[in-house]
Amino acid sequence: MQAVILAGGQGTRLRPLTLTCPKPIVPLLNVPFLHYQLAWLRQHGIREAVLACSYGVDEIRRVLGGRHAAGIRLSYAIEREPLGTAGALRNAADAGNGPLVVLNGDVLTDLDLSGVIRLHAERGAQATISLTSVDDPTRYGLVETEPDGRMLRFLEKPEPEHVTVQTINAGVYILERTLLELIPTGRVVSMEREFFPELLARGIGFFGHTISAYWLDIGNAETYRQAQVDLLTGTVTTGVQPPGIRRGNLWIGDESSISAEARLTGPAVIGRRARLASGCRVGPFSVLGDRTTMERGSHIDGAVLWEDVRVGPGARLSACVVADRCRIGANAEIGPGAVLGAGSVVPDGARLPA
Ligand code: GTP
Repeated sequence: MQAVILAGGQGTRLRPLTLTCPKPIVPLLNVPFLHYQLAWLRQHGIREAVLACSYGVDEIRRVLGGRHAAGIRLSYAIEREPLGTAGALRNAADAGNGPLVVLNGDVLTDLDLSGVIRLHAERGAQATISLTSVDDPTRYGLVETEPDGRMLRFLEKPEPEHVTVQTINAGVYILERTLLELIPTGRVVSMEREFFPELLARGIGFFGHTISAYWLDIGNAETYRQAQVDLLTGTVTTGVQPPGIRRGNLWIGDESSISAEARLTGPAVIGRRARLASGCRVGPFSVLGDRTTMERGSHIDGAVLWEDVRVGPGARLSACVVADRCRIGANAEIGPGAVLGAGSVVPDGARLPA
């Protein structure tokens, strides 16, 4: 079975991180995100995936490398101009018969995909959407179904008083390929606003399936960091390990240099060639990218640092995200919720957020 991963969005909610690194390859525990999706697809017997790309495709190609990743044969369908979620699917999928797995390229999940594919076949469905329950559905599109799972209606980002159900679109679909002919070519087409309502209007076999598995849209800074906490606590199960040698709940990258006077408390991940000077402290849920340097007496707690970051002496970083090549000045303090784009420079003694 073929999978199409929608991986061409601009990822505006994850700016400034996505200004230099497209969302499908942002690192989770120092592994590009798509590797988690590909490993999961492989676990469920998928061997072939098309990446529907637009924004940042060159970078995605560079990071994923050749024609294979995680045991999956990869190909790329590139839109000259972004075609929207359904337009991208039409552009990427091979024509023909039989079902197709379609995935938003920002969903971390361990749902039983094989089970959903089986259910789709048993029901004789044309389209099956996975649904997940969230506490606050007002930020999403709600999906209502009949008790037997038959699709009833879509409600885009409703006001709190109009919330009728907690179930939202989880961004994992099984679609019969013949349906792709219903997607107009050559223009932007949205899955949620156009294609799915069209399927409803035509009264075809269109079902929702509510999952109880782990599910997270990694597409904003808060969930991006949360995903890594969940991976480190084993709240989500994946076939992917952080690179490096595991010592208890610490993963230490090759050729890293850690002072005997540094204190590390896991779970945490240290990248390749990282350098930690004496008096450094790394607290739980911290992730240090390759070649990151922590100078004397600096502390990191629950922070995610990308590659080549330099943390000055005495600096304190907690629950923040710091992209490639940032320079953090001596005794600076960066607190929860701060997100620094690539190459940012924080002066000595500065405090963020202010
Ligand atoms: P935000 O701007 O932060 O909302 O992120 P986004 O651009 O990724 O949009 P959204 O989260 O709604 O997209 C859901 C999935 O569809 C993501 O995996 C996107 O990469 C993908 N996507 C969105 N628009 C396009 C598009 O025009 N072309 C392609 N190929 N993929 C798209």
